[in-house]
Amino acid sequence: MNESIFIPQPAQVALERFPIAMGNEPEYTSALGAAWASGRVNLIGEHTDYNDGFVLPIAVDRVVAFAGQARGDGIVRLWSSQFEEYAQFSLEGMPETFEQQSNTLPRWARHVLAVIAELTRAGVTLCGFDAVINGDVPVGGGMSSSAAIEVAAAQACVLFSNGQFTIGVEGATFTPIEVAALCQHAEWIATGVQVGILDQAASCLGRPGQAVLFVCRSLEYRYLPFDTQDLSLVVIDTSVRRELADSAYNERRRQCEEAAQMLRDIILQHEPENQSARTIRALRDVTQEQFDLYGAQLPDVLRRRAGYIIAEDARVLQAARLLDEGSIGNVGPLLWKTHAGLRDDYEVSSVELDTLVEIARKVPGVLGARMLGGGFGGCTINLVRSEVVETLRYVVNKEYPARTGGLEASIDICKAAGGPGYRWV
Ligand code: GLA
Repeated sequence: MNESIFIPQPAQVALERFPIAMGNEPEYTSALGAAWASGRVNLIGEHTDYNDGFVLPIAVDRVVAFAGQARGDGIVRLWSSQFEEYAQFSLEGMPETFEQQSNTLPRWARHVLAVIAELTRAGVTLCGFDAVINGDVPVGGGMSSSAAIEVAAAQACVLFSNGQFTIGVEGATFTPIEVAALCQHAEWIATGVQVGILDQAASCLGRPGQAVLFVCRSLEYRYLPFDTQDLSLVVIDTSVRRELADSAYNERRRQCEEAAQMLRDIILQHEPENQSARTIRALRDVTQEQFDLYGAQLPDVLRRRAGYIIAEDARVLQAARLLDEGSIGNVGPLLWKTHAGLRDDYEVSSVELDTLVEIARKVPGVLGARMLGGGFGGCTINLVRSEVVETLRYVVNKEYPARTGGLEASIDICKAAGGPGYRWV
């Protein structure tokens, strides 16, 4: 990856704060540098990633940035501007010392330690460093602040490791996809949530003005034009976060695995000669026709989970075709359908998310809206004609508090402007 000319604002702020937060000790062994990675908005393809399916994210113009310098010892010292908190850990004995060290750290720092654990597990020798972490990805808001901190941490390790390893496409130690997988595993050990690869892949692969059609089984991907021109991608935050999300996420994942296995067995009972049914490993492998024929034989909950995933994979491919044709506006109606599936069949929405989607539906010029990310709280995304953004803002500010007992929603316009980067100063 080439050094960036442009420095995102949060990275600039982190660079300015570094001397204040860290003082001038110890003696540093590198210049001052910054590394950053973006949050993401997933246009469509929710919960399909861990079903080996398709996703269509963009990396947004919101980043988590590290600014710092390498140290001569094996200590990592961090200051989080957002949490106004220090954290410190040692590279010694990693990854074996991960559990023990992780228990003593604040949550945000566990993600950094986990990335370091995974890098050391992959055989990389790292140097200690001091860094200030700063970002403008809303924490826990469905734009993948945790993937952004993980991918930025991996980038920071490249920066401060004195050339021990590199990330790039040809001849580098790790490809961006390998970094995404490594950061996905870091998320598993940091949180215990068995996330798919969507967030980390989106953060690693993001490019300005482009969406990525990502195939979660083969890890292949293709860039698609995401030039919104007279359309805006509006992200509305419910301001509600729910802890329940973690256990419900792992439960959905298990249910999908069970549904895939049961469908495979049911299909084979009826069609013993069907060779391709033998290879069903995930819901991605079940066709809509097979589901229509045999889905009713699944227990009700599993039938609804599987039905949503199979239809969502088809919607992603349809949305990709529309982007290829330059018809972004026509993706809108698919978003309403995704929301209905997530609400009624996948059951990961919330009253607040549903309320925001209902409010948006009544505003002419909103082409589509749906909840974003894992669910249970966080944000909605809205594909909106740019001339009605202010109307939408007005209606949400008026109706959302009235319908939720006084909650306030915050409204942001996001651009496909992201991607990881670094800069020495
Ligand atoms: C979270 C996970 C992702 C993905 C989404 C839902 O963001 O981290 O892997 O499963 O939920 O699409």
